[in-house]
Amino acid sequence: MKKHLNTLIILLSIFFNQITFTQEIKSTDEIISARVDSVIALMTLDEKIGQLNQLSFGIGWGPTVKSNVPDEYKELIREGKIGSFLNALGADFTRDLQKIAVTESRLKIPLIFGYDVIHGFKTIFPIPLAEAATWQPEMLEMSTHYQALEASSAGINWTFSPMVDIARDPRWGRIMEGSGEDPYLGSLMAAASVRGYQGNLSDKNIIACAKHYAGYGGAEGGRDYNTVDISERTLQDVYLPPFKSAVDAGVQTLMASFNEINGVPSSASKYLLTDVLRDEWGFKGFVVSDWNSIGELVIHGVAVDLKQAANIAINAGLDMDMESRAYITYLAALVKEGKVSEETVNESVKRVLRVKFLLGLFDDPFKYCNEEREKETILSKEVKDAALEVAKKSFVLLKNENNLLPLKKDYKKIAVIGPLANSTENPLGGWAAMGDSSDVISILAGLKNYVKGNTEILFSEGCKINDPSTIGFTDAINTANNSDIVILCLGEGNDMSGEACSRSTLDLPGVQEQLAKELFKTGKPIVVVLMNGRPLSINWLNENILAILETWFPGITAGEAIAQVLFGDYNPAGKLPVTFPRTVGQIPIYYNHKNSGRPGDLKNHYTSKYLDLPLTPLYPFGYGLSYTTFSYSNLSLNKNKITKNDKLQISVTVKNTGNYDGEEVVQLYIQDLVGSVTRPVKELKRFQKIFLKKGESKTVEFTLSEKDLRFTTADMKFASEPGTFKVYAGTNSVDVLESQFELVQD
Ligand code: BGC
Repeated sequence: MKKHLNTLIILLSIFFNQITFTQEIKSTDEIISARVDSVIALMTLDEKIGQLNQLSFGIGWGPTVKSNVPDEYKELIREGKIGSFLNALGADFTRDLQKIAVTESRLKIPLIFGYDVIHGFKTIFPIPLAEAATWQPEMLEMSTHYQALEASSAGINWTFSPMVDIARDPRWGRIMEGSGEDPYLGSLMAAASVRGYQGNLSDKNIIACAKHYAGYGGAEGGRDYNTVDISERTLQDVYLPPFKSAVDAGVQTLMASFNEINGVPSSASKYLLTDVLRDEWGFKGFVVSDWNSIGELVIHGVAVDLKQAANIAINAGLDMDMESRAYITYLAALVKEGKVSEETVNESVKRVLRVKFLLGLFDDPFKYCNEEREKETILSKEVKDAALEVAKKSFVLLKNENNLLPLKKDYKKIAVIGPLANSTENPLGGWAAMGDSSDVISILAGLKNYVKGNTEILFSEGCKINDPSTIGFTDAINTANNSDIVILCLGEGNDMSGEACSRSTLDLPGVQEQLAKELFKTGKPIVVVLMNGRPLSINWLNENILAILETWFPGITAGEAIAQVLFGDYNPAGKLPVTFPRTVGQIPIYYNHKNSGRPGDLKNHYTSKYLDLPLTPLYPFGYGLSYTTFSYSNLSLNKNKITKNDKLQISVTVKNTGNYDGEEVVQLYIQDLVGSVTRPVKELKRFQKIFLKKGESKTVEFTLSEKDLRFTTADMKFASEPGTFKVYAGTNSVDVLESQFELVQD
């Protein structure tokens, strides 16, 4: 008895970090692991299972701030039957909940609070697709750092972000939540995002969650939640790299996706959740299901009921159950029946507890509950300034004939027209967390503030975003006629992309294009400002409108950022992280496609093309203009043959040949000409954003090595193969200089 008592005292003291560790226990990992073991040793099976249960606070999807805690939740927390809440927010409210956990439950294990902080908590930054258009991972790192700063001040210590799904189909509404179509750009952005959120896990950081693992963006027909059937090779070479990159950057959680992939729903996939994630990549954190994705295993048709779904999911390696209550209801019975080993449950619980220790919640469960910090941080100038900077850097100049932009400061009257001109709701974009339209600067307000009464700003809405009525056209036309220039603000509503927001067309919704055509007839110069969460097929605009600025959904500083860019205080330098098709019928269209045996040739009938379309997209991947121009020359390589041990130095000279200082994203692609399997026609391998004063030249250097040439070969190894490689450097994926080198055996 005495022996047991001693053990208990030791375990408890390790639990509360009271004892000094002996020499053999050195690393934080080992210390945490010892503390985790000490907790596990005290837990009943029910308490263990409780740690794997996550519930949304309140009914439905919305967030809950300060409210009474219903008796059901109080009871669950007291009994240790809940490990985490999502959607409960606020320093004070999360304190109330945490207090129940650490004072009224037997083992006093703290709760972890999750929330979808996707592109801002209260200060809404541009949507992630826009952040990727900066081609500056450090911008995303700054953005996620500030998102964490705000969220952590409001009780949140875990975000369900970044979404690192590769998206090659712009019909899929969730394309707005990720970094676009490219695995390399996506991987750099994934890592940057993790670094920004998690930092050094201080009280100003939060745990990140790479989602949706895996292949979710490959939904057939671009229809959300739909079946995904992609080859193992494409999965490995295209869809998985951003997840691997997030894991390498230290992401502590992943979310299993809703979709099935090649016949197995991700939430049931031992291959994904254990073999690849843990055995191959060495991931130490925990995996949470997507909302009821364990429950949906029944609807997928791989489990007869919720109990079997729980059995499959936990054995596959899915640690935490979001919202289906499958684990809390059935896991204990499954353990008793011998279908799930207690060891399997222990492993999952250990992973969850480990993250709670990493967050420091055992040492200070109220670390994230500081009302004063919450007041100071939320919507502070520092955070808003960061949002403004990212917004400006995310805009992509799609067209600028006759140097219509930047706007001259001597216009007497500017007409601001269109359904997005005076909107404060839409610039927030989807997944806007606690974002509030009253904090948003509309385009109209931004322009008015900017010109400070020196120019008259006229406004007409013209039409709604997605409505057949043309009743507002007359007023819009009169407004245009009465002005020197028109800023026409078109695009999608913020509810037209994001989850469950797939579209079957990429055209401008409603009568917006018709409005543009009517305004075009006035003969006034027109600048189109686009807001949208996906590529749009805007052929008519591209052919007829002089200037087009893609601003995505820029967040709360929208109008300020747009005014500064339109007037040239900042010269746009964003590049498309995703291809813009001419029409929805071109999908899938992405730059890193394969050659086929009969590459498209309009002069040759029996080739891969459409009868009624050009071969090219509307705007290629990597495309984006500047108010200045750049020329590329002298693409040179330090060697034309490399071995596995060599470094290939590639340099290219870029000159600012226009009339403004500006930034340029210098892009480097390769093509592996012959492989044991077919290889993409181009693959992005490096890029660098540089600043050049007008007239200035710079030589940009890139280094590649054999590692950068690896892919999944015919025998499913991740390796390079000797042979000839083309190298391309340029301003986008199409306009490039070309050279080549050979990889030879040592
Ligand atoms: C979405 C996830 C999100 C979760 C929690 C799900 O419907 O697919 O991306 O994190 O809800 O809100």
